[in-house]
Amino acid sequence: MKEFFQNLFRKKDIAAMLREAETTNGGLRRTLTATNLVALGIGAIIGTGIFVITGQAAAQYAGPALTISFVISALGCVFAGFCYAEFAAMIPVSGSVYSYSYTTMGEFLAWFIGWDLILEYLFACSTVAVGWSGYMQSLLHGWGIDLPQQLAQSTLGHINGEWFFTGSIINFPAVCIVALITSLLLSGIRQSAWVNSVIVVIKVAVILMFIGFGLSYIDTSNWIPYIPKNTGEYGNFGWSGIMRGAAVVFFAYLGFDALSTAAQETKRPQKDMHRGILISLGICTLLYVSVTAVLTGIVNYSELNVDAPIALAIDRAGTGLAWMSPLIKLGAIAGISSVILVMMMGQSRIYYAISKDGMLPKLFSKVTVKRGVPQNATIFAGSATGLIAGLFPLNVLGELVSIGTLMAFTIVCVSVMVLRKTHPELKRPFKVPLVWLIPSLGAFFCLLQMVSLPWSTWLRLILWMLVGIVIYFLYGKWHSHIRKK
Ligand code: ALA
Repeated sequence: MKEFFQNLFRKKDIAAMLREAETTNGGLRRTLTATNLVALGIGAIIGTGIFVITGQAAAQYAGPALTISFVISALGCVFAGFCYAEFAAMIPVSGSVYSYSYTTMGEFLAWFIGWDLILEYLFACSTVAVGWSGYMQSLLHGWGIDLPQQLAQSTLGHINGEWFFTGSIINFPAVCIVALITSLLLSGIRQSAWVNSVIVVIKVAVILMFIGFGLSYIDTSNWIPYIPKNTGEYGNFGWSGIMRGAAVVFFAYLGFDALSTAAQETKRPQKDMHRGILISLGICTLLYVSVTAVLTGIVNYSELNVDAPIALAIDRAGTGLAWMSPLIKLGAIAGISSVILVMMMGQSRIYYAISKDGMLPKLFSKVTVKRGVPQNATIFAGSATGLIAGLFPLNVLGELVSIGTLMAFTIVCVSVMVLRKTHPELKRPFKVPLVWLIPSLGAFFCLLQMVSLPWSTWLRLILWMLVGIVIYFLYGKWHSHIRKK
């Protein structure tokens, strides 16, 4: 019995991990610079959140005060971001929280969190791919092109707790964008980072144009009352609405953590990783707050519960801004693509890292000599994402992403404190300031948001984690390299 538990909580040696990263680097190439990292961060963060969710959250929960929700949500992310930054600079390997937990909390919990990260990235990619499909179809519709019904939506639908067949064979555009991005990722990290940078320039330019040109169309009476009165129900405007708005727009910040999975492919992770994470988070927060202020200034919040709120604001501004309408759609489509790109990269790197430790089959850690890409892991990530994005509807997918991410953030915050106690001697190129306060606050905010999520989401998380535990006891436990040693 004692041995059973010892095995379960056996920890990986940090020094050995760092040695490997410094020597063979597992076949991966260190090509990313600080600028690449900031671009990857913005590429992963800005997507469906700002182009779709902002309007809906303003209309349903917070009104113009959604700007405050964005700041509150950013605070939770910045606390977790500091912790990610400390780890990513100290242990610059590709497994992110999975690898950090392997050194702090032992094998079983590392697998547990690795499985949770798979949930986060797999479902985030799929959710965003389904959102991409919606935007693409609306653009095509504007040009008079409509896909046949059998290819336009997910195979399954889910309304009021009931599953049903929609009559569609598969969400074809969602599958196509996933396939396209998988091939891009297979061409190498440098090529992927280059395409991402181009996309980031387009989407940030489009957003800045909206803010810059939209300013003069603001009608300040739309900002009054700034915090609409609560309707009597928790979460419907007032301060509780601002809090619920913060939990909802949390989705808009997801992605910065995926950056840490690229630590093993970064030229100077010790110097650049924390910059990449914190600068991209800061830029995105500024952009989000500004877009929300302009959006709710042009259109009254009560009318913003639509799929393309920014496009609506441009229409409302009248002929003066009509020229921006196709640009916004293009920016949204391009922008959402880069989110899929970075999240899918993150997903493949998690498979790679777990397989390197023996807990997933060896084929997942095979890296192509020519391009330095974990090929099988990337193809598997693409296939799984394509399948899920093609079959399932947006509402079910989106729910799972937030809870999985919040759990990962909580664990990172706790691990930072644990490692400061257990390994005070380790070189920390970046240190979380006020180490007992910031990670505790980070963990507290994340747990608070987890608790406010519905029971059905918890149930799905529990089921997913149970499947993970079964896989660990059937495979991972017996094949783990440190156990064999
Ligand atoms: N933050 C990403 C988005 O908003 C997931 O699409």
